[in-house]
Amino acid sequence: MRHLLSIADLDRAGIEELLDLAESFREVTQRDIPKVPALRGKVVVSLFYEDSTRTRLSFETAAKRLSCDVMAFSVASSSVKKGESLRDTVQTIEAMGIDAVVVRHQAAGTPHRIAGWIDAHVINAGDGAREHPTQALLDVFTLRRHLGPSLEGAHVAIVGDILHSRVARSDVRALTTLGARVTLVAPPTLLPASLAGWPVEVRHDLDDLLPDLDAISMLRIQRERQERALFPSLREYSGRFGLTVERAARLRPDALILHPGPMNRGVEIAAEVAESPRSVILEQVTNGVAVRMAVLYRLLGGPDVPDVSEAQDGLIAQDGPEAPDGNGARRARDRQDRQDQHDGRDG
Ligand code: CP
Repeated sequence: MRHLLSIADLDRAGIEELLDLAESFREVTQRDIPKVPALRGKVVVSLFYEDSTRTRLSFETAAKRLSCDVMAFSVASSSVKKGESLRDTVQTIEAMGIDAVVVRHQAAGTPHRIAGWIDAHVINAGDGAREHPTQALLDVFTLRRHLGPSLEGAHVAIVGDILHSRVARSDVRALTTLGARVTLVAPPTLLPASLAGWPVEVRHDLDDLLPDLDAISMLRIQRERQERALFPSLREYSGRFGLTVERAARLRPDALILHPGPMNRGVEIAAEVAESPRSVILEQVTNGVAVRMAVLYRLLGGPDVPDVSEAQDGLIAQDGPEAPDGNGARRARDRQDRQDQHDGRDG
């Protein structure tokens, strides 16, 4: 893997290998000194043309924990303001001697274009409404830690502004590649005009679905990407599609609640629900650092998962994934029973 531009760059084995590697790096992040010399001397640039809190800081933290040097590019104080083109900007930065560029841009396809202009590795940190591959990897990583090492048959709903969501596109690819069943829930105006080729079920009503879910991911209404009103009011949207306290009570007790952030509390998710014990929203953020360490290591550190001698040197631990609640196997069996019932109903 030379770049990470889309989840489609990874097959199932590739995703699973990255998730296993991220488990090892998660252990590193929990040490007293959460830093390893794995990528000492490598230079990583964060090139964000669009706002970010989580992704930017997460990548910069991940790179520093691998002992990379990090250059943070700020559009607001750069020569972009004097009219410098994207191509001139990235080629100028590369001329300083860099190994990887982490790029976020409002235009879909920008990371692919940059990959054609420079030799450094390119990682897509979100391009328009197209893809956000590392968000999807941290989402499936978080699910796997709770639902067990296999997501085969797990039922995950993605709810809200699918139309403008790069997270939804990458999540659908990652989840279905790992065998999960995905249901999209949104009003018709917040769905793409065509879902041909999307391996998903679609609903316009949330309530009946809730008791059947292993996990539910709530998406932000992306008002900054909406050129016209796509629903009558936020209040009406929240009333039909928001994860309120009453709706959350209809989820199974062990169902997980996710949100990629940033949240609009009181719109797509109630504050009490976001802070409830079933919410793994902050855990997603924590896991994001380990997942991005794995991506950087995989791109910059070589083709193979580090061997045991590196682990003995304190580079990384070799423990495999483990569900923190120890209930992964039971949950997988429950899931299989529900899947059998579902298939029986359909058949
Ligand atoms: N989830 C996510 O991409 O958040 P940021 O926009 O804060 O990076």
